[in-house]
Amino acid sequence: MEDRELLNLAFEAMKNSYAPYSNFHVGACVLCKDGKYFYGANIENASYGATNCGERSAVFAAYSNGYRKGDIEKLAIVSDGHRIAWPCGICRQVLTELLDLDTPILLATKDKEDKILVRDLMPAIFGPEDLEDGI
Ligand code: THU
Repeated sequence: MEDRELLNLAFEAMKNSYAPYSNFHVGACVLCKDGKYFYGANIENASYGATNCGERSAVFAAYSNGYRKGDIEKLAIVSDGHRIAWPCGICRQVLTELLDLDTPILLATKDKEDKILVRDLMPAIFGPEDLEDGI
């Protein structure tokens, strides 16, 4: 699937955003290597900390349906502001564990686009191997 097509699916997903508090809408779409894709949107909560970001919703949807990092080809994240919504810190922690580090991430607003790899999201990642000494 072309990048543009995947971004369009992420804009579709953004329609499902539930953001009555911030009024900032985020949509995401995970494309799997077998062609299946999973939508995600930001889902807010009156207890603000319980909010789930759009990209985490999409990746959790893929995992919830049995897909794992090796099955995932790329991720698109879009928002309705003028500035590109770069993944927040919590999402970076999640994305670096649940996606291969060389997975492309497409980002867009209605008038801007960018593209990075998961590995560019975070230096010095805390991951599962760091727990090995813990037990
Ligand atoms: N948000 C995302 O969905 N993804 C990000 O990486 C940045 C923030 C959402 C969370 C909240 O619903 C709204 O944007 C404002 O922070």
